[in-house]
Amino acid sequence: MIDLVNGSGSYVYDQNGTAYLDFMSGIAVSNLGHKNPKVMQALHEQSQKIWHSSNLYTNHLQESIAEKLTMGKNYLAFFCNSGTEANEAAIKLARKATGRPKIISFLQSFHGRTYGALSATGQPQLQQGFFPIVEGFDYVPYNQLEALKELLDENVAAVMLEVIQGEGGVIPAEKAWLQAVAKLCKANGSLLIIDEIQTGMGRTGNFYAFEAYQIEPDIITLAKALANGIPVGAMLGKKELAEAFGPGSHGTTFGGNNLAMKVAETVVSQINQPEFLADVKAKGAFLKAELAKLTGESEKVVEVRGEGLMLGVQLDSAETLQTVIQTLKQEKLLAIKAGGNVLRLLPPLTISQSELEKGVAIINQAILQ
Ligand SMILES: Cc1ncc(COP(=O)(O)O)c(C=O)c1O
Repeated sequence: MIDLVNGSGSYVYDQNGTAYLDFMSGIAVSNLGHKNPKVMQALHEQSQKIWHSSNLYTNHLQESIAEKLTMGKNYLAFFCNSGTEANEAAIKLARKATGRPKIISFLQSFHGRTYGALSATGQPQLQQGFFPIVEGFDYVPYNQLEALKELLDENVAAVMLEVIQGEGGVIPAEKAWLQAVAKLCKANGSLLIIDEIQTGMGRTGNFYAFEAYQIEPDIITLAKALANGIPVGAMLGKKELAEAFGPGSHGTTFGGNNLAMKVAETVVSQINQPEFLADVKAKGAFLKAELAKLTGESEKVVEVRGEGLMLGVQLDSAETLQTVIQTLKQEKLLAIKAGGNVLRLLPPLTISQSELEKGVAIINQAILQ
């Protein structure tokens, strides 16, 4: 068993000192790599001041990070500790603000493991054994409009989706489809919740993946890379929804604590820079183009898809995927699966060109052997 006891940049080290090239970033968490100097400094500085102060007092760190996340737009932030909590908050806010009971999400989606988020997750195998789940959730096919149109009525509080379905198989939303979904929601008075927990924080080459689609979500959820490994989550909701979440209606003890906020502020300041994001796009384009060559070279490779440094290589079977992941591990590269047969690649956004090339060589060998 691998026990990762250390990390530095794009490498992680196990209990025996063996180095692995990190192509998974702790499942899209360590976007700035391991032991990022500015992140470490922020954590150290804040640890010398105050770690936690409760939500009974003003917290200037929360205000500062909220401003950075909302980019001067018309949103307010609620901070929590994980992705599933951010989605719980989103579901509760949508129901309370609209007074409507239903939430529509998509097949193969993944929104978390607590009851609300699990109920929104369109994967029956993940709900197995946990019934009864929360009432009022419906699932429709992703990238298709018909079933959604049929269900969208005056009872629908929100439509909830990932811009690229991550756990479900690295499946990007088609642009025309997502724009149509946003329009339909607006016309029906239903809120659009965009789950950016995996796709956000620069992962796709935009700070938020939805920016490539020219849509304006009503609610955005974040977690994973927001503090590069310090647990944190966030829900951003349009200002006009805020009344529904007045004092006492929803809360958390740890959410928005000083330590996580200070680190998150440093992380967002580093990632949300035009040059940084352009670099992610360039590296992602390189990696995708290199991997795409495999489709012509091996019958095992069905498709290469994704955006930025969130890429998936769909293989011909779950068995092939298992063998490839095992071989990669032997060759000291860590990657993970998505869906049944997709190799998911999520290297740190700070990965160097030579590390990317090394990764490509290892992946090529593992698939072509
Ligand atoms: C899109 C998406 N939403 C929600 C979650 C749940 O986040 P967490 O594991 O922090 O609760 C995940 C985790 O993989 C995710 O990928």
